[in-house]
Amino acid sequence: KTQGKKTEGVMSADKGMIEAALTEAYNKFKDLQEGKNADYIKELANVDPNIFGIALVTTDGQVYTQGDITSMVSIQSVSKVFTMAKVIEEQGPQAVRDKIGVDATGMRFNSIVAVELQKGKEINPLVNPGAIAASSLINGSDSAAKWKSILDIHSDFAGRPLTVNEPVYISEAGDNLRNQAIAHLLKAYNRMYFDPVQATDIYTKQCAINVNAKDLATMAATLANGGVNPITKKKVVSPETVMYTLPVMATAGLYDDSGQWLYTSGLPAKSGVGGGLLAVCPGKFGIAVVSPPLDAAGNSVKAQKAIAYVVEKLKADPY
Ligand code: DON
Repeated sequence: KTQGKKTEGVMSADKGMIEAALTEAYNKFKDLQEGKNADYIKELANVDPNIFGIALVTTDGQVYTQGDITSMVSIQSVSKVFTMAKVIEEQGPQAVRDKIGVDATGMRFNSIVAVELQKGKEINPLVNPGAIAASSLINGSDSAAKWKSILDIHSDFAGRPLTVNEPVYISEAGDNLRNQAIAHLLKAYNRMYFDPVQATDIYTKQCAINVNAKDLATMAATLANGGVNPITKKKVVSPETVMYTLPVMATAGLYDDSGQWLYTSGLPAKSGVGGGLLAVCPGKFGIAVVSPPLDAAGNSVKAQKAIAYVVEKLKADPY
């Protein structure tokens, strides 16, 4: 019976089963007190640590939610997925492989040592160096054009116009020496494809885009649905772009803990230091949780637990 469910997938699971899985996950983890908000970006320390929302959007456009799905957090590193997807869409998968790289670094997301050790290579688009390089690669004659393109692709994935959390942007932009250093180091290795100061600024703004759990789940569901937003029905990226995006998420979506995560959940995913985490079950659904307290690797504690719980309940592991 379990095997039957697994092959038929969650689309055939009844609504009650999905609702029950979300409710159980919410109740099981809502009082968990582990982890701590990120504070190296000062504004993030002020975000309510009790925000906890779960959303699941199926590839046929059904939306399931539990808990707080209206509170917004900054998207942070989750944005790296969508800028990477836009670069793949514009320049093809080979450009990302050649100009950025697609291997795990084995180091923290903002490691300068990783860049230096690899002479700019073997940095993927989901750690800061590769993400700043990806922002620099986005088509557009100037910084404003590149930024518009990045904001638009995020909005298309979410299915509504997203906006920037100005206090978070200002807070990070005013204290951004490490990312600026990374961008300049890449430039020294000829692996930065636009002005490093402006590319870092675009990247910082991108990380400050505000989202709730439902936005993130819709973005994940668009990837699960081959690049078509299952709610708006808009074709956001091609199936080929999705095909090259998901493996990078599987390799590096949760940084040093990517292997642990994949082993637990089986799903390509991406975390952000704002507390958002989304996971993609190809052909079936996208799921996301927002909960700001993070573990040592920089991933939301409750989000990892809640998503793993729901995936297990739905027997949704596609591998
Ligand atoms: O560049 C930074 O450090 C942040 N804007 C984003 C880092 C991040 O989200 C890493 N995530 N787990």
